[in-house]
Amino acid sequence: MAHRTITVLPGDGVGPEVTEQALEVLLTVADLYRHDFTVHRRLAGLAAIAEEGVAISDETFDLCAGSDAILFGAIGSLPAEQRKNATVRPEQALFRLRKDFQFFANLRPIRPSRSLYHASPLKPEYLDGTDLIFVRELSAGLYYGHLDAAIPGKPSEIRRTERGEEAVDTLLYTEQEIERVVRAAFDIAAVRRGKITSVDKANVLSSSILWRRIVDRIAPDYPGVEYEHILVDAAAMFLLRDPARFDVVVTENLFGDILTDEAAMLTGSIGMIPSASLGVRRTEAGVFGLYEPIHGSAPDIEGQDKANPIGAVLSAAMLLRHSLGLPDEAAAVEAAVEEVLADGYRTVDISEDGAKLVGTRELGKRIATAVRRP
Ligand code: NAI
Ligand code: MG
Repeated sequence: MAHRTITVLPGDGVGPEVTEQALEVLLTVADLYRHDFTVHRRLAGLAAIAEEGVAISDETFDLCAGSDAILFGAIGSLPAEQRKNATVRPEQALFRLRKDFQFFANLRPIRPSRSLYHASPLKPEYLDGTDLIFVRELSAGLYYGHLDAAIPGKPSEIRRTERGEEAVDTLLYTEQEIERVVRAAFDIAAVRRGKITSVDKANVLSSSILWRRIVDRIAPDYPGVEYEHILVDAAAMFLLRDPARFDVVVTENLFGDILTDEAAMLTGSIGMIPSASLGVRRTEAGVFGLYEPIHGSAPDIEGQDKANPIGAVLSAAMLLRHSLGLPDEAAAVEAAVEEVLADGYRTVDISEDGAKLVGTRELGKRIATAVRRP
């Protein structure tokens, strides 16, 4: 019996709809395996701005800090007309969590389910054997420009010159920032199929040249792991041409953002992909982390019971594995997802002729019911 604390931040848009299902699955696991999970449910993003005036309150933040893990839904942006002069923005919640907790390694597994080959634009023979995981650097690079713009040497701005406007973003990585994410990726490869692909743009970017050097320097510490460097444009091509060639893919923040949306299509829907953002603090049985599906708030389907909850449910499985130290329970959740898909149940994004079309709630309930203790 394990005592664990989870802070749940459903967010807005379809976030609350899919998170509800993920939470139900976690509570089913607690029940079946006799664990004691304390769950704090709090606001973040648009809902928090409406109720509390900030994207995430200090109280909520402190609750997260005292938890073993954070289960996150999604947060949307302010409507364009409100964005212009807004000082409080929903996405500040995620940036604060990522930055302050130093969630530097973002894990995104891509494993197309045989039951969903029809939903992928690729032919089945290209999908066979595909089982890869991205390790995307999440704490530095271009994304932090607007947060770090006040730091000398890291400009991020649009400015006026004599020739008209110009804009600058800064892609800056320190040696330490590269090293910690690359080591995390090698650690993962060592317990998978023992292969790492490091993706960069070393033919043009200085940050990539340093990245490549550090990978070369770390690799000898992992004699059982085979590694290669490839350029990001070639990586985009190989993801479609031969996705099964990849095991662990490690890359910087922006490349990882773009390539993982592309890779998500191998599984048929962005609603299928979970993620774990892991930091530096150890919990009782794992690493403190934030878990969320990779999709956004999906305003076009919000409130319609249409969102695919599987990305959120599989994020809960990653939470069990990486932060709570419960790998058997994580595997039981993953098996339940496969079982429900093999039985033909689908949300509309992954549906086909003859499938059993169900809503977010029913798919979630069916997954929870399929979780078994061996
Ligand atoms: P999105 O991921 O919300 O939606 C893209 C498309 O995928 C839409 O057609 C949507 O209906 C569909 N989709 C997304 N999740 C789905 C699910 N679970 N099941 C079925 N279909 C699903 O990306 P978009 O439209 O670019 O962004 C919407 C908002 O979300 C923006 O405000 C954006 O800033 C925010 N966002 C938030 C993220 C987060 O909270 N981590 C990540 C990405 C975007
Ligand atoms: Mg993205």
